[in-house]
Amino acid sequence: MKDLTIVRTVADLRREVAAFRTAGRTIGLVPTMGALHEGHISLVRGALGHSDVPVTSIFVNPTQFGPNEDFGAYPRDEAGDLAKLEEAGCRLVFAPGKDEMYPDPQLTTVHVSEITEGLCSPLRPGHFDGVATVVTKLLMMAMPERGYFGEKDYQQLQVIRRMVRDLAMPIEIVGMPTVREPDGLAMSSRNRYLGTAERATARALHRQLSAVAETVRDGQSSCTAAASAAAKALLSAGFDVVEYLTVVDAESLHPLERVTGPARVVAATRLGRTRLIDNIAVD
Ligand code: PAF
Repeated sequence: MKDLTIVRTVADLRREVAAFRTAGRTIGLVPTMGALHEGHISLVRGALGHSDVPVTSIFVNPTQFGPNEDFGAYPRDEAGDLAKLEEAGCRLVFAPGKDEMYPDPQLTTVHVSEITEGLCSPLRPGHFDGVATVVTKLLMMAMPERGYFGEKDYQQLQVIRRMVRDLAMPIEIVGMPTVREPDGLAMSSRNRYLGTAERATARALHRQLSAVAETVRDGQSSCTAAASAAAKALLSAGFDVVEYLTVVDAESLHPLERVTGPARVVAATRLGRTRLIDNIAVD
């Protein structure tokens, strides 16, 4: 790896970051759990676009997975990830082990209230505490000027924005647009779990979210009616479960009945053993 440095300890990360800073560069942190795809790479490009030195972390964070979730099966491909990152222009990768991230039993958890109460939370209790805590640690370790996160995990993005604001962290959170396959499916590390027939069915998700966004954007149509028609259409198309499909305020994530300002159609579904989430702005 010619231009890419890989570090595995917090001390080495801080030393490398300090060297960039001494050279007058700003740091853009791209936190990931690896199994990188074009969506992640777009975050690295986002950092380069702001003239930040892109620093990517790769850590499959156990504390954000529930006991029956896919922590063990979560795809891991460090060699492939490093090749993609180098090609994209990433300069530094922080790939710690579990003992480096959690050397002591954690007595401290970062909890963001309200916006973590609906949508994904009821079915993934503790998930956002795990995310908020590990992201806080990563931000404190790298001390970037900016942190880059995908809009695909929209609730996560709002939780992180709010956490950074509430805790007055001197870091700008940059949300980057979802990168999609040609048929509209949002790129996700979990898409590789989909079988061929499931992959063909999966494209219906983006189509239905777009239909809801189109229906409710006039502010006259009922969000509940449009969302429930879309959920039914997904089940008819072959989805096994629609955990939620709803129109929410873009910032507070409160469910809306009519769109009167910035809003988002958000959904979580299950197709076979794969959980697919997606969202789309109501323009
Ligand atoms: O979005 C992810 O991949 C993870 O939730 C994150 C932000 C890297 C924290 O582990």
